[in-house]
Amino acid sequence: MEMSSYFYYVQVHGLLNIVGWGTLLPVGVIIARYFRRFPIQYPWWFQAHVSCQLTGYVLGTTGWIIGLYLGKASKPYSFPIHALISHFLFVFATLQMLAIRLKPKPMDEYIRYWAMYHHLLGCALLAVIIVNVFRGIGIFTPNHTWKRAYIGLLGALALITLALEIFTWAKFMKGTNGTDPNRNGNKNKIGTNSSPQTQEVPQL
Ligand code: HEM
Ligand code: HEM
Repeated sequence: MEMSSYFYYVQVHGLLNIVGWGTLLPVGVIIARYFRRFPIQYPWWFQAHVSCQLTGYVLGTTGWIIGLYLGKASKPYSFPIHALISHFLFVFATLQMLAIRLKPKPMDEYIRYWAMYHHLLGCALLAVIIVNVFRGIGIFTPNHTWKRAYIGLLGALALITLALEIFTWAKFMKGTNGTDPNRNGNKNKIGTNSSPQTQEVPQL
C-alpha cells in the first residue's frame, strides 16, 4: 500500500473509532443513566439510547474492520495489544447489542439482574474503549493534535456527567426531605434507596 493511502486509512480508522466507540457509546450511556427516569424523565430516552449505541456500534465496527485491513497491509509492523483489546471490545460490544433482540420483558423476574449485567458490561466497555483509543493514537505517535482533541472531548463528556450527577444528588436529597413532588409514595422513603440510581426498572 502506498504511504499516502496508508495514512489516509489510518486517519479514517482513527476517526471512525473515536466517533463510534469513543463518543457515541458514552453519550448513549449518559442518556440511559440520567434521562431514563431520574433526575430527568425523557420519554424518548430508550430510542435515543438504542440509536446512539447502534450508530456507534456500526461506525466503530467499520473502523475496527479497517484496522484489521491495516494490520494485514503492514505485515512488518504489528500492534498485538491494540489488536487484542479491539477484538475483545468487538465481541463484548456485540454481546451488549444483542439486547436489541434478547432483552427481558419488563415483567420478567430476572430483568433486575439483566440491568445489572448490562450496566456493568457497558461501563467496563467504556473504560476499555478509552484505553484503546489512547493506544491507537499512541501508535500514530507524532500527532499530539489527536490526543489533545480526544482529551478535550472526554473532558467535555466528563463535565456534562459531573453536572448531571450533582443535579441527580441535589434532586435526590431534596426528595428525601419530602419536598420533591416527583417522589412517588413509600417506594422512595428515606432509607429504602441507597442511591438515586437505585430506581425501579422502567416499564418499557
Ligand atoms: C454497546 C452498546 C451498549 C452499551 C455500552 C450500553 C450501556 C448501558 C449502560 C451503561 C446502562 C446503564 C446506565 C445507568 O443507569 O447507569 C444502560 C442501560 C440500558 N440499556 Fe444499554 N447499552 C448498549 C446497548 C443497548 C441496547 C442495544 C439496548 C436495547 C435494548 C439497550 C437497552 C438498555 C436499557 C433498557 C437500559 C436500562 C436498564 C435499567 O433499567 O437499568 N442498551 N446501557
Ligand atoms: C477503540 C478504538 C480502536 C479499535 C477497536 C482499533 C482497532 C485496530 C485494529 C484491529 C488494528 C490492527 C492491528 C494489527 O493487526 O496489528 C489497529 C491498528 C492500528 N490502529 Fe487502531 N483501533 C482503535 C483506535 C485507534 C485510534 C483512535 C487510532 C488513531 C489514529 C488508531 C490507530 C491505529 C494504527 C496507526 C494502527 C496500525 C496499523 C498498522 O498495522 O499499520 N486506532 N487498530
